[in-house]
Amino acid sequence: MRIGIFGAGGMAEALGGQWTAAGHEVMVAARDRAKAAAISARVGTWAEAAAASEVILLAVPADAVTEVVAAAGNLAGKVLIDCTNAVGPGAVLTIPDQAARIALAAGDAHVVKAFNLCHVDVWRMTPPAFGGRPLAVPLCGPPEAVGVVSSLVRDIGCTPLNAGGLDRARLMEATMAFMVGLWFDGHDAQACFPPLPA
Ligand SMILES: NC(=O)c1ccc[n+]([C@@H]2O[C@H](COP(=O)([O-])OP(=O)(O)OC[C@H]3O[C@@H](n4cnc5c(N)ncnc54)[C@H](OP(=O)(O)O)[C@@H]3O)[C@@H](O)[C@H]2O)c1
Repeated sequence: MRIGIFGAGGMAEALGGQWTAAGHEVMVAARDRAKAAAISARVGTWAEAAAASEVILLAVPADAVTEVVAAAGNLAGKVLIDCTNAVGPGAVLTIPDQAARIALAAGDAHVVKAFNLCHVDVWRMTPPAFGGRPLAVPLCGPPEAVGVVSSLVRDIGCTPLNAGGLDRARLMEATMAFMVGLWFDGHDAQACFPPLPA
């Protein structure tokens, strides 16, 4: 698959590295070209990376997203993965309904919320698995685009979960803020949830 990544920080490097290792063609666009080049030999402007890609990972801070999407130009028909977290001090959401805001800015792109629930170090694991169980990655978005992102989730050794349409992405965003609050207070958020048979 031809994948564009906007941003050259931790998430770009972690997921970009995994997808390159899985055989995908990754092009990185970032305001710092040297950082982009450290992730992939294929570097372009926002618009070049968008034009060259079927799928784009938005890996910039939440408040930079609309500016970057605007600079990328026409994203019609592209699958746009939103992994952003708009969380401020006190583990509160600073932007409500971030994925919907991105969908509005990105015109006819197919936005999928994914990869926002775990720390970047988890996305560096090969594979991300705990106690022998692969990490499950919920995806919210239109079904066809969720299907595309599901294959990218499998490529990094995780299990995709179709979690409904983009209207449910704000629940994932709130879940992330809630869990971050628990982790920062030293609690094991995973221990709150019983196994499925229960
Ligand atoms: N880190 C995590 O554990 C984690 C986990 C899940 C989701 N996320 C989300 O993933 C996204 C990326 O996180 P990250 O950890 O990769 O962040 P990061 O390491 O700080 O990298 C952010 C990237 O965005 C670029 N950037 C910053 N402001 C920009 C602007 N105004 N315009 C264009 N580019 C800009 C940075 O460029 P410069 O290098 O030039 O500053 C850098 O390339 C965030 O929305 C974050 O909430 C992070």
